[in-house]
Amino acid sequence: MEKRWGGVFRQTTAPSVERFTESISFDWRLYREDIAASMAHVQMLAQVGLLLPEEAERLKHALLEIEEEISRGQFPFRPELEDVHMHIEQALVERLGELGKKLHTARSRNDQVATDLRLWIRRGIDDIDRRLQELQRAFVERCEKDQGIIVPAYTHLRRAQPVLVAHMWLAYCERLQRDRERLADCRRRVNRCPLGSAAIAGTSLPIDRHMTARLLEFDGITENSIDATCDRDFVAEFVFDLALIAVHLSGWAEDWILWSSAEFDFLHLPDAFCTGSSIMPQKRNPDVLELVRGKCARVCGDLQSLLVLLKGLPLGYNRDLQEDKIPLFSAYDTVSDCLEMAAEIVRHAELNRQRLEASVGTGFVDATTLMEQLICRGIPQRDAHQVVGRLVRRAMDSGRTLGELTLDEFRQEIPAIGPEVYQWLGPAAAVAAMKSLGSTQPELVKQQVARWKVRLGLAPDEAGLSSAGKEEGSKTGRET
Ligand code: ARG
Repeated sequence: MEKRWGGVFRQTTAPSVERFTESISFDWRLYREDIAASMAHVQMLAQVGLLLPEEAERLKHALLEIEEEISRGQFPFRPELEDVHMHIEQALVERLGELGKKLHTARSRNDQVATDLRLWIRRGIDDIDRRLQELQRAFVERCEKDQGIIVPAYTHLRRAQPVLVAHMWLAYCERLQRDRERLADCRRRVNRCPLGSAAIAGTSLPIDRHMTARLLEFDGITENSIDATCDRDFVAEFVFDLALIAVHLSGWAEDWILWSSAEFDFLHLPDAFCTGSSIMPQKRNPDVLELVRGKCARVCGDLQSLLVLLKGLPLGYNRDLQEDKIPLFSAYDTVSDCLEMAAEIVRHAELNRQRLEASVGTGFVDATTLMEQLICRGIPQRDAHQVVGRLVRRAMDSGRTLGELTLDEFRQEIPAIGPEVYQWLGPAAAVAAMKSLGSTQPELVKQQVARWKVRLGLAPDEAGLSSAGKEEGSKTGRET
């Protein structure tokens, strides 16, 4: 078939080239954005007199019809039409004849695809943000369900100190909050309209770029037509943000894979979220968590693909850029699915309270607090460390906890000590003894839970907590 750009050509395109260069097989996903951008463009062309008002009406009507057909799956895609932009334009020409050919006035596919991508990513950011918030809510709701449960916190994957499990759930919320802030920051740079930059130099036609930007709800226009047509920083940035979310999810998945193993047995994953083995009848495998961990590789690979794609490209649009959509869609789809699964699992898994109690009662997780209490009594930290180390060794060698040592044994190491030493021992005492802001001290954790509930819209803001949240939000131009 005759190409829209075919005027200068003496030969028709080889079918192998059509197959090789097409992008409709993946960029059809931009059709809503492409049509939205065309609608705004048409309205602007009418406003500046490049289209008659009734021409604009007919074009918009046909564009909506095409959108409807694509969304119903009734629109045939043909590789010889290259990409989503050409498909929609061709359909307009088939419907409206000569008038359809006016749509591309003062526009190039270079600024068109840049606009579509920004619109698509803007929506993607909002969707991922919503899913991140859902996952945060799932963790915060767990804080209430798991109230008062103390678990060992690990460093080097060795039992370190006791913490409220809610403190751990809120640790994940903090990570996810930074992910949301990064997305909000990325959104500011995404939300600039490149439409009207045309191929590279702009256009000699009297267009109104501010008008299309406003109609498409962009915050403003891009400032340089050369940069605007080849800038894909915002794609790389978004995919980086997705990759870090995937990294965060993979860490959580690993935690819960361990916790749900028979060796830890801290957490029960419902059958609905496990799968079996085809040979070992007893197996209940945490495949969903393993895939959340594993799919992170794909997203990190997508980021790598994009960075390598952009490296060394000369200024101006290059066809290489067509390849940006494959890693973009892949990273978005993967992270979106993982977030959804994560929220479901967080809502449905059950902690094994008995087992946690037994586990946190051993392993000398109260040793650090004991040392700190000795420091309060004037013993230098280095000495207190040594003394408690020797007490732990004594208990360890005789198969006891620190709380099971006799007062005489304590006095051999710390002559001035009295029976008050027993008040400092055990996981609950160690947790309660915490004082520093941001620690696992139960009153502080309770305040944090309340703050998160307000922040996530799970509770009304009775104590005026959100003013603190707003300050943080305003740094990134976004409510939290
Ligand atoms: N399908 C192309 C892409 O995704 C659209 C832009 C093509 N522009 C061009 N002059 N060939 O990048």
